[in-house]
Amino acid sequence: MAKITIIAINGSPRKNGKTAELLKKFLVLLKRKGAKTTFLNLSDYKINHCLGCYSKSPSACKFPCVQKDDMQKIYPLLLASDVIILGSPIYWFNMSGLMKNFIDRLTCLATSGYLLENKVGLSLAVSSENEGGRVSASLSMASALNHLGLLIPPYGILYFPGREKLNQKGKVIWDNWLTNEMPKISNNLIKLCQFLKKAKFQW
Ligand SMILES: Cc1cc2nc3c(=O)[nH]c(=O)nc-3n(C[C@H](O)[C@H](O)[C@H](O)COP(=O)(O)O)c2cc1C
Repeated sequence: MAKITIIAINGSPRKNGKTAELLKKFLVLLKRKGAKTTFLNLSDYKINHCLGCYSKSPSACKFPCVQKDDMQKIYPLLLASDVIILGSPIYWFNMSGLMKNFIDRLTCLATSGYLLENKVGLSLAVSSENEGGRVSASLSMASALNHLGLLIPPYGILYFPGREKLNQKGKVIWDNWLTNEMPKISNNLIKLCQFLKKAKFQW
């Protein structure tokens, strides 16, 4: 069976921050399951903001995007992947500007025939501070992926830190469900991709 190809995209300008750490942890597990993995820092690429051709007319936005910047290097990596994992730090209750800018530039993949259809998508919003916005940040990324034609599996809309719980003394502590659940999610991700490859859905 062909190898499952997985790309994790870090939307933090900090290449060794918490988002990168968690994405890499995921990739280690997926690699152990036989996947071919790629890790990419958006901050290593020159990505212009979207020019909004779609707003003139949806047919004016075509793949590949008219802008000849580093998105031209990233599009083939996305097209060759079975799984796309978007990871972003939470900035002002949502994803980072780097990640949002990148997602805007995926519009041409939708207008030119939903070229990412049948792939699997995961989103991961990260804050070490937990100052709010983890669910909305992760949901925003997942909504974009889903609308680009990707399947978001159960437990595919992830955030860190995890759930709050009380310890025996009644003090609030963090239940690190993300790292606890990662092995199970990784196993199921590989199985799901193998299934999707055979099933050949047409949406
Ligand atoms: C501009 C900016 C805005 C932020 N806004 C939030 C926020 O709304 N909610 C939150 O929980 N953390 C917020 N943070 C904290 C970061 O999400 C947190 O430090 C995160 O762990 C950074 O990820 P990284 O280590 O991958 O860079 C913000 C940080 C910055 C720099």
